[in-house]
Formats: sequence, C-alpha cells, structure tokens
Amino acid sequence: MYELGARKFACLSLIPLGYLPISRTFGGGFQRNSVEWLTQAAVKFNSKLEHELNHLNSSLPGTRILYIDIYNPLVDLIQNHKKYGFEDSSHGCCGTGLIELNYGCNELLSSFTCSNSSSHVFWDAGHPSERAYRMIISQVVHNISHQLLDV
Ligand SMILES: *[C@@H]1O[C@H](CO)[C@@H](O)[C@H](O)[C@H]1NC(C)=O
Ligand SMILES: *[C@@H]1O[C@H](CO)[C@@H](O)[C@H](O)[C@H]1NC(C)=O
Repeated sequence: MYELGARKFACLSLIPLGYLPISRTFGGGFQRNSVEWLTQAAVKFNSKLEHELNHLNSSLPGTRILYIDIYNPLVDLIQNHKKYGFEDSSHGCCGTGLIELNYGCNELLSSFTCSNSSSHVFWDAGHPSERAYRMIISQVVHNISHQLLDV
C-alpha cells in the first residue's frame, strides 16, 4: 500500500476475544467465565501489532500510522457495564445470547431476542451493540484526537 502511494493508515487492535459471549459459551465452563488464554492471545497480538506499527511508522518516510486501541475501551465497558448503564455484558441481545452470530440472528429468533439492545454490551454472541460501539468510538476519538490533528 505504501508503494502505491498510501501514507495515512489507522489500524484497529484485536478485541478481548475471551470476553465474547460465544467464547464464554464454548470455553468458559458451566459458569460461562471469560476465557483467559484467548484474552491473553489478544493482548500478546496487540502488543506485537503496536510495536510493528510504530516500527513501520518510523521506517517508512512520510507515513502516519495510528494504532487504535479498541481492546481497553471494550474491556472497560464489559467489566464496568453497570457503571455505563448496561444490564448485561455476557450474553448477546439477539436470540438466546449464547451462540447466535451474524445471519444466525434473524426473525426466527425474535421471541428470544431482548427487547432493548441498549441494555446489552453485545448485540450478538460476537459483536458489540450499537450503544456499546458508540461509547467505544467516542473514547477512541478522544484518545487519538491529538494524533489526528496533525495527521
Ligand atoms: C510517526 O512518525 C511521525 C513522523 O513521521 C511522528 O511525528 C509520530 O510521532 C510517529 N508516531 C508514532 C506513533 O510513533
Ligand atoms: C434501553 O436501555 C437504555 C440503557 O439502559 C435506556 O437508557 C433506555 O431508556 C431503554 N429504552 C427503552 C425503550 O426502554
């Protein structure tokens, strides 16, 4: 992409994989605990990604490469969900909240689906709800605004 002329990049971190409802369902035992090894894998990946992006940023002349941390804002929402007005951070709103993803969330499940997705951190078993996304994005924009100003 650099060779083709691109100079401004923004790259998102991985999310805390072990906290996704689907990870809890398949890896968290009867209690649906968060899955520590998956979360640690994301932490390790993010630290290498950030390191590599900083390296590229300084080795490719004239580029600005931003590492955008969405891991920490999402962990904060999940762990302190009550503080942010969410009732649930371990189930998706859609369907049973345990395993449904993407097209698995459809009208056939509407009788199980929660009535207010804003009360859930997760919309489905793998993706945050619109309200959670909005909160993450406002924190991200706040965190990187000083870097965006001179991009
Ligand atoms: C990226 O490089 C620019 C100079 O090209 C520098 O101003 C900026 O601080 C660097 N960003 C990071 C995250 O290292
Ligand atoms: C949905 O939940 C949010 C967050 O708890 C709350 O602010 C909002 O009033 C609720 N909406 C309805 C229609 O109950």
